[in-house]
Amino acid sequence: MLNGKHIVLGITGGIAAYKSVVLLRLLVKNGAEVQVVMTPNACEFVRPLTFSTLSGKPVITQFFSANSGEWHSHVDLGIWADLFVIAPATASTIGKMANGIADNMLVTTYLSAKEDVMIAPAMDLDMWRHPSTQRNIDCLKKDGVIVIQPDAGELASGLSGKGRMAEPEIILREIKEYFRRKETLKGIKALVTAGPTYEKLDPVRFIGNYSSGKMGFEIADELHRRGAEVTLISGPVSVKPYSDEINLIGVESAREMYREALKCFPDADLAVFAAAVADYAPEKISELKIKRENEEELEIKLVRNPDIAAELGKRKTSRQITVGFALETHNEKENALKKLKSKNLDWIVLNSLQDPEAGFMKETNKVTIWNKENSKFPFEAKSKREVASDIIDVISQSLEKSGSIVG
Ligand code: PMT
Repeated sequence: MLNGKHIVLGITGGIAAYKSVVLLRLLVKNGAEVQVVMTPNACEFVRPLTFSTLSGKPVITQFFSANSGEWHSHVDLGIWADLFVIAPATASTIGKMANGIADNMLVTTYLSAKEDVMIAPAMDLDMWRHPSTQRNIDCLKKDGVIVIQPDAGELASGLSGKGRMAEPEIILREIKEYFRRKETLKGIKALVTAGPTYEKLDPVRFIGNYSSGKMGFEIADELHRRGAEVTLISGPVSVKPYSDEINLIGVESAREMYREALKCFPDADLAVFAAAVADYAPEKISELKIKRENEEELEIKLVRNPDIAAELGKRKTSRQITVGFALETHNEKENALKKLKSKNLDWIVLNSLQDPEAGFMKETNKVTIWNKENSKFPFEAKSKREVASDIIDVISQSLEKSGSIVG
């Protein structure tokens, strides 16, 4: 299952470091190649020799080797690894990771990591529930770090509560699940639209909307994380995809987005329309800045933009799946189901501006998804990354049915 996988195992200074010996053993037994990186404090709990013997590689504890003076490249480690697992992750290391304090090899490696990062926190119950730790954990989750929740039980302090590092077998299961998910959309070509469109009025003004692009970019990222080949067509935004393997096409107006989407769609197995596309654009774009005149009113004639989702819905073949979003302020369900039908979508994702945690610019979203058969999948408010994951879990069923996912 883990054959050929390169894993960097980071070990920090907590008593749970003894469990990392078992974790390393399990990883190696399952075929992974493991490079251990320890903080200086971790070496006080378990000797590096134990880990180097089990991994078959010298353990990295310092920026450079004390004997040879050889520099350990955290950048090369980041390129080599398929996954970086930090177990145990102490409150101190979690705090340093959240704040970019790179005063040891482990946190420096974290800051250079190209691969995903998973942490298994371990600490006393009061440290775990301290607002500072929880703030740092939230911050790491937002940065995309996967957190394996600690267990509740007897702690090294003699107290009992939440804070014990998850058992090595549980961490191994999470690692295997991570790699399994990464392969689930292998071979799938996905097209995602994201962000707002800007409809020009003159050289300095446009009609636009509040979309930040976050939701669409999270969907593109998640599809890529699961192995899909992703093209992301986005209006003007400041967010970036997490991987440069995502083919990002930047556009400004709805018409430009439409043209690019038409070009990419024939190749796609899946298209997700998360963009907030302007339905209308000014009929004429003034070459010069429109001047303030004496009249009290200024009339601008708007003309309809093409509907990307609806047009691609017409062109789609039985192999292709399309997913639309509905951003509503009222009659939410009715409007969403109308769009599902009229745009010939396979799935519609409703987010309502009535929900304080949903919609534009926010870090969170709250969605309900319907398919053509009228099955409903409601979700709680979550981070947009988690929402993206839920959406893709649900629509993967269609990809399996359409034969796009083999096996
Ligand atoms: O970008 P964020 O700040 O993270 O916010 C995310 C979001 C709220 C923009 C996103 O979750 C969302 O709801 N996107 C769709 C917004 C929208 O335009 O909805 P709509 O109900 O007007 O359009 C319905 C569907 O048709 C959408 O999939 C839309 O992309 C598509 N459409 C609409 C008009 C058009 N001309 N072409 C289209 O493809």
